[in-house]
Amino acid sequence: MIFIYPGSFDPVTLGHVDLMTRGAKLADKLIVAVLDNPHKQPLFSIEERMDLLRDAVKDIGNIEVTAFSGLLTRFTNERGVSVILRGLRDGEDYISEARYAWFNRFLGGDVETIFLPASPAFSQVSSRIVREIAAYAAPAQDGVSDPLLQWVTPKTAAVLRSKFMTKG
Ligand code: PNS
Repeated sequence: MIFIYPGSFDPVTLGHVDLMTRGAKLADKLIVAVLDNPHKQPLFSIEERMDLLRDAVKDIGNIEVTAFSGLLTRFTNERGVSVILRGLRDGEDYISEARYAWFNRFLGGDVETIFLPASPAFSQVSSRIVREIAAYAAPAQDGVSDPLLQWVTPKTAAVLRSKFMTKG
């Protein structure tokens, strides 16, 4: 069965990587679909987000990274996907995700959403938090490694740091 894991991934975090690793074990194939939303101003371009995702999952064989725009269920129907995978960190996530799951089922015919609970190590992390850490927390210094490395891949940490250095 083909699963889809949609998201903004601005940028991918180790929480997403944990979810993708676990989801890919349940599916024959996992499509990771990055939302290209013209109404949002992401920090990373769609190409950068896909590039960081591809690097983060390079050791997992059955994952395809792609982009989509518009309605998720239009994309799932086009690709013949019947399962949407989403992670839940807490009850707040559940409230919004349960709503999305219902509307996606309504709009997409047979499409079901399955939820995996975030692993405890990643139950607090979000893309927004890592962007803030990159913007305000000091990078590696005096033999102490970059705090970002607890939450993102080395490549994502490097690209995040370079963004804020050039902006700074
Ligand atoms: O990583 P995010 O920002 O939590 O991901 C949200 C995402 C991309 C899964 C959601 O916004 C989405 O599916 N957007 C596409 C438009 C759509 O289909 N919306 C749902 C209608 S009920």
